[in-house]
Amino acid sequence: MQMPLLAKPMDGACGHSPRRPSFDARLGREARKFTYCVHKDEQDRLSPAVRNVEIANAEACKLACARSRPAAGTVAAFNQVAAGDEKDSRMKIVRVAQPAAIDQLRISAADPRPPQPGEVMVRVRATSLNYHDLLVVNGGIPTPPGRIPMSDGAGEVLEVGPPLPDAPRDPSCIFKPGDLVMSTFFRHWHDGEPTAVKCGAVYGESIDGYACEIATVPATSLTKAPAGLTALEAATLPCAALTAWRALVVQGGVKAGDTVLVQGSGGVSVFALQIAKAVGATVIATSSSDEKLQRLLALGADHGINYKATPKWGAAARSLTDGRGVDHVVEIGGAGTLNQSITACRVGGHIAMIGVLTGREGEVSTVRLLANQIRLQGVMVGSRADQLAMVRAFEACRIKPIVDASFALEDMGQAFRHQMSGSHFGKISVAVD
Ligand SMILES: NC(=O)c1ccc[n+]([C@@H]2O[C@H](COP(=O)([O-])OP(=O)(O)OC[C@H]3O[C@@H](n4cnc5c(N)ncnc54)[C@H](OP(=O)(O)O)[C@@H]3O)[C@@H](O)[C@H]2O)c1
Repeated sequence: MQMPLLAKPMDGACGHSPRRPSFDARLGREARKFTYCVHKDEQDRLSPAVRNVEIANAEACKLACARSRPAAGTVAAFNQVAAGDEKDSRMKIVRVAQPAAIDQLRISAADPRPPQPGEVMVRVRATSLNYHDLLVVNGGIPTPPGRIPMSDGAGEVLEVGPPLPDAPRDPSCIFKPGDLVMSTFFRHWHDGEPTAVKCGAVYGESIDGYACEIATVPATSLTKAPAGLTALEAATLPCAALTAWRALVVQGGVKAGDTVLVQGSGGVSVFALQIAKAVGATVIATSSSDEKLQRLLALGADHGINYKATPKWGAAARSLTDGRGVDHVVEIGGAGTLNQSITACRVGGHIAMIGVLTGREGEVSTVRLLANQIRLQGVMVGSRADQLAMVRAFEACRIKPIVDASFALEDMGQAFRHQMSGSHFGKISVAVD
């Protein structure tokens, strides 16, 4: 025989207790939560899925009540409604298949993890593509089976775990539900110089990333997003923009009047152009396409060189500086472009070695590096402290990311094919709605 549910004092149409409003993951806004109320004698009969589960929307609660009262009021009805409710509460994720392949990216479901002390649960609204993510999803960087890819993520805070005992209360790590936040590339590089340990854990590679609807991460793996940006825009910043920022500002010390050479029209280079213009530098941009060069000029570049039509673009860039040479090169090509960059660079100039699009090795004129006393500096993204500084700068300078195209989470494979086509300008995003 099924036992009737305990009748509770009525609240509206049902006898369940509304709790104070809090941010609701599925509704994407503040909502009152309703709890199941079951007589203590009957609680053992509730399925584990129902015990202590909150119905996160009033309609589900009313449905539970309608099914449970008067005569049909059964624990089974609650169990049934809660099972549906629980099914809905699972989140969509993308995992890297084994063997990894872009065509094998598939959506599956998983349970979000509640935040532990020092953690924050984020409703991810967007992620963006970096070359590093492409290597993860096509197996160029091997990852453990089932890895959730994507190092970049942005979205709203859903829930904040209790503070870590005895941890200093860093104001930049205090978040509240509804805050728009973005990820950091490294889990442990909070500030200071890089070390192997600080750079040992990368989201979307050695630990799960942001191709998911809900991510639960340490508060130290998030910063606020620049005010005025959408989540889709903010999700373009943590890898590409921070790399450009660290290359030019942190390592390069770029200043007004410097000349900066940026290569191509991809994510890192377009951010480098925007940052260089924001500080008052002159920018020489290269591209394989005259049409993209026009867009780079429209974004503020002072000069454009088609590197296909002008293979000796290093000398062409130098001649644009009256023979002095550029102060900074944002090197994304690697070995195949480095000799031209050395030609373009002034005596005592700086080359930020960021990418290896032309290959991992090659012949480099080391003697010209030495004779011209050029500083060749490897750059791997940046620390959380660098990201906080970049956020302040993007707010002050009102820098808006250039989003070339946006894809749905279900179409992530298409997004990567678009990246591989090389037709994009700036960043490619994935909306996680
Ligand atoms: N070290 C780090 O921390 C870090 C961080 C982010 C990215 N990266 C690396 O930086 C590189 C670029 O990344 P991204 O995200 O900006 O890539 P992306 O958005 O895919 O941009 C690629 C663009 O680079 C340009 N390009 C390709 N080959 C070139 C060449 N030989 N010379 C000049 N430009 C060339 C093309 O521009 P056009 O179509 O205009 O020719 C292409 O659209 C990748 O190797 C990536 O792995 C490194």
